[in-house]
Amino acid sequence: MPIPGVPSSSRPVRLIALMNQKGGVGKTTTTVNLAAALARSGRPTLVIDLDPQAHATIALGVDPASIASSVYDLLIGSPTSELAAGAVHDVGNNLFVLPSHTDLAATESELAMAPDRLQRLVRVVESFQARFEFILIDCPPSLGLLTLNALTAAREVLIPMQAHFLALQGVGKLLETVRALAQGPQPINPRLKVAGVVLCMHDTSSTHTKEVVADLDGFFEAARSDDVPWRMARVFRPAIRRNIKLAECPSFGKSIFDYAPLATGAEDYKALADVFVRDWDAFLAAKGVAPVERNPEPPVVETRGVNTPSPSA
Ligand SMILES: Nc1ncnc2c1ncn2[C@@H]1O[C@H](COP(=O)(O)OP(=O)(O)OP(=O)(O)O)[C@@H](O)[C@H]1O
Ligand SMILES: [Mg+2]
Repeated sequence: MPIPGVPSSSRPVRLIALMNQKGGVGKTTTTVNLAAALARSGRPTLVIDLDPQAHATIALGVDPASIASSVYDLLIGSPTSELAAGAVHDVGNNLFVLPSHTDLAATESELAMAPDRLQRLVRVVESFQARFEFILIDCPPSLGLLTLNALTAAREVLIPMQAHFLALQGVGKLLETVRALAQGPQPINPRLKVAGVVLCMHDTSSTHTKEVVADLDGFFEAARSDDVPWRMARVFRPAIRRNIKLAECPSFGKSIFDYAPLATGAEDYKALADVFVRDWDAFLAAKGVAPVERNPEPPVVETRGVNTPSPSA
């Protein structure tokens, strides 16, 4: 059953889990605003909110209390394509969300004995992935069953983090988790790769921050010839600068592009999305996948003060 507004296609999909077991590092902010930027570039993009806190759902303007079904229903039940299509919400031009609900917190115990508990999200994604070009999964701040489902379904892991010394240790643990899933004795997802790190709430002026970024760059460079899932990983540029508008927009249920399109947060997420789009288009071209016509949103031009979108005329 088609999802309204989303054409079906057999084109490849870029499936990325945004993950960091540390809380409050910018996972949700990056999922929502990177997805919004990708959608604005004309790519049908789905956010899967896999966090019982439902922050991505709320930030995209969907009230978890008023939805008929959520990702929880699809994980627990049989995700027929009709059910999956009914659960996906259209939240703007090219942008969709499969919402979360606090029920999702029960998944861990409800699926504890299910032999296919790690494959539940794979089945959900299979039921509609051909309709999207990018799927971004917002993970909860833990390495529990929900995050493991995201890592089993995804092809890539993107790690939002703040450039602090202690955060590096957490990233080491996270990379080992990815390696265990991709290359352990019984690999669950051998295709899983680490795309890299997105630096969030970034302070470009601090010496400590610069040292941490240099360490990360050096770590990924040193892994280029190793047989590890982060062999191709990098620290994405630009970093996302600290910007209060990014903290404000979720309470209005809007992405930064609708809330404050001229803020530095919009500039940074747009530039980050451009990197993802460029890489993806190069990958598709190398695979011989024909380009399709896009319908990107017009750029915002500063005409009437800081946060005023350009008139559509
Ligand atoms: N670049 C930024 N500038 C200013 N505030 C930001 C920025 N990025 C994120 N924040 C704010 O920091 C807080 C944590 O961000 P976010 O919710 O995205 O983190 P998270 O990793 O998803 O958290 P959790 O682990 O609880 O899911 C939020 O209040 C968010 O609005
Ligand atoms: Mg979050």
